[in-house]
Amino acid sequence: MRKQRLVVVGSGSTYTMGMMMSLIAEKERFPLKDVIFYDIDEQRQERNARATEILFKERYPELESFSYTTEKEAAFKQADFVFVQIRTGGLAMREQDEQISLKHRVVGQETCGPGGMAYGLRSIGDMVELVNDVRRCSPEAWILNYTNPAAIVAEALNREFPNDNRILNICDMPIAIMISYAKILGLDVWDIVPEYFGLNHFGWFTKIFDKEGNDHTERLKRLIMETGFTPEDEAIANDLSWQKTFEQARQMLIDFPEFLPNTYLQYYLYPEAMVEKEDPNRTRARQVIEGRQKHVHDLCDRIIEKETAEGEDLHVDIHGVFMIKAAESLAYNLNERFIVMVENNGVIPNLPAEAMVEVPALLTSQGPKPFSIGKIPTFYKGLIEGQLAYEQLVVDAYFEESYQKLIQALTVNRTVVNASKVKEIVDDLIIANEKYWPELKKNTDSSF
Ligand code: G6P
Ligand code: MN
Repeated sequence: MRKQRLVVVGSGSTYTMGMMMSLIAEKERFPLKDVIFYDIDEQRQERNARATEILFKERYPELESFSYTTEKEAAFKQADFVFVQIRTGGLAMREQDEQISLKHRVVGQETCGPGGMAYGLRSIGDMVELVNDVRRCSPEAWILNYTNPAAIVAEALNREFPNDNRILNICDMPIAIMISYAKILGLDVWDIVPEYFGLNHFGWFTKIFDKEGNDHTERLKRLIMETGFTPEDEAIANDLSWQKTFEQARQMLIDFPEFLPNTYLQYYLYPEAMVEKEDPNRTRARQVIEGRQKHVHDLCDRIIEKETAEGEDLHVDIHGVFMIKAAESLAYNLNERFIVMVENNGVIPNLPAEAMVEVPALLTSQGPKPFSIGKIPTFYKGLIEGQLAYEQLVVDAYFEESYQKLIQALTVNRTVVNASKVKEIVDDLIIANEKYWPELKKNTDSSF
């Protein structure tokens, strides 16, 4: 089996250690020649990198080399795979996004509503630059992107690099939900064969089969409605915020029992209740800073201090395993089925061809081969079209540097609605994002 050269961009992330454990777990199926960490934040990177070095020495002796750098050229040359997990502005800006939104009494969330919009405008520039940098050094590398807000990033990259068919945008939420389905059904998550459609963080499971072709959909729905719905992946199972989110997914199913919803739909279907639940002084970003981030930093510090990872409670997480299994399927043409983002092109014939949709696809060495979905019912089509217009308008606003497009974007977003509020929120976000956003032109010319 040909060994892969992997670059992890945004290696300072709180997800990196879980990803490294997953690489170790998958080493027979996705054997690596070398791993390079790249980050612009030297300090964040170094902590993860030094702990990883020790971990690999103990558990991945087959690896020929591991290194870390803040130099693009050193990182990106001759890569086979580039995993991208950057967060422009860091968790500090995530907190700003969430708090500014909540101040206006609208959903304050990483990828939904005004927060997602702000994050989108921060991510696009860095992502475009990154793809250009990678392509200069490694024209053939697979770029697996899970940078958020993935829907907006996918739309922007598809516009900027229309002929690059080695960029795959991918999200772990569907598989994290499937772990809970598997638990309820008494199946292994990898034996579940889902049917699904939507946009990223805005979709529905329409059928749940197993590999033998048995249909579990109706039984699953009934069990969720009767007995509840809880996160089961180790990384989120004990997290109160995720527990509430999964419980709300059960409510969505009760209210709209036709299909099984992605958890993120809660922000669009019950925006007021979501605002009520939040404490503006302790939004999700703060919880992550004091929770997952602190946990990972302490873990790395202990490994570095003791010079061993022995005795540490390190485990693989679904996020990492999912990305690596997807990479495996691309690298070795395994034709395995994953839910990923692709250009629609008729997959859902009653949605625009250019939309970036999230659907099941076989991952081959030629890229994703999506399954045809067919026409979707009016309710979902209506919701998706509004959300899609929002995403496209955010990307328009970025490339055209248009204030007006951004106002339009947020006006069609279900989390806001009221146009006078939209302006106030956008104006606050412009100030907070001064260092990150393009300067938006207030063009009074109405010819657009
Ligand atoms: C899921 C989503 C990611 C998102 C994450 C947020 O994994 O798929 O896109 O970034 O949840 O989780 P957090 O624990 O940071 O709120
Ligand atoms: Mn996601």
